[in-house]
Amino acid sequence: MRYLKILCIALTFIFSIPYGTTVFADDDFEEHYEYDDGHGDREEHEDERYEDIGELIGWSTLVTIGVAALLFPTRKIMKSVITTFPQSKKLYVSFTKWLGKYHILIGIAALVLSICHGVLMYLHEGELESEGITGLGAVIIMVIAAIMGAVLFKNKKVKSLRTTHTILVTFGVVIVLFHIFLS
Ligand code: HEM
Ligand code: HEM
Repeated sequence: MRYLKILCIALTFIFSIPYGTTVFADDDFEEHYEYDDGHGDREEHEDERYEDIGELIGWSTLVTIGVAALLFPTRKIMKSVITTFPQSKKLYVSFTKWLGKYHILIGIAALVLSICHGVLMYLHEGELESEGITGLGAVIIMVIAAIMGAVLFKNKKVKSLRTTHTILVTFGVVIVLFHIFLS
């Protein structure tokens, strides 16, 4: 629970950065705006603010997906890490347990963030271009992977479900990387 609180505080801090910077930017903007006759600049400024927040949420989604995916390598290399660095056993095991305990929550957070990012970017662009289509494709695959994950949660012994979940997630990550490369 303590770790969850730390995660929430860290996320709040990350998300407050763009608001803080836009507050400073707004002061400068107000000065210029007094001499401006149109509403265009203000609208453009608002639009840029949404784009910045959307991009930040996009990067946060990538980090959150990365944390959820860490479960696989940390479990795989557990044995060799423990034998090579026996003094780190306690820390390593509790970190892996933490990843397992909050995996579903972290995965759902990644999905929610990706949808928020997608909606903001779509509102900013006003149309679905190639970046949007690849992003949407990634989200759809992640949602299917999450549904498989929910079934896996109920039947953890079914190996094929675990493999399907992992393959879908990997496929989703490849499309996400392609999506970021395109933008
Ligand atoms: C798992 C899902 C997704 C992840 C991890 C993700 C991540 C990102 C990242 C990191 C960027 C680069 C931001 C930057 O240039 O600083 C980006 C850009 C973009 N994303 Fe996504 N995205 C996802 C889904 C979506 C969806 C569903 C849409 C829209 C339907 C979307 C639309 C866009 C657009 C339009 C850009 C280009 C922004 C620009 O360069 O002006 N993304 N995304
Ligand atoms: C960004 C999203 C996600 C990623 C990258 C991801 C990735 C992974 C990976 C790599 C594994 C390890 C597979 C293995 O041990 O062989 C796993 C296991 C699992 N995932 Fe996900 N997953 C995500 C979202 C979800 C969601 C949303 C759910 C549930 C609704 C879920 C449920 C599960 C379950 C139940 C397991 C087995 C855990 C265990 O053995 O204790 N995952 N996932």
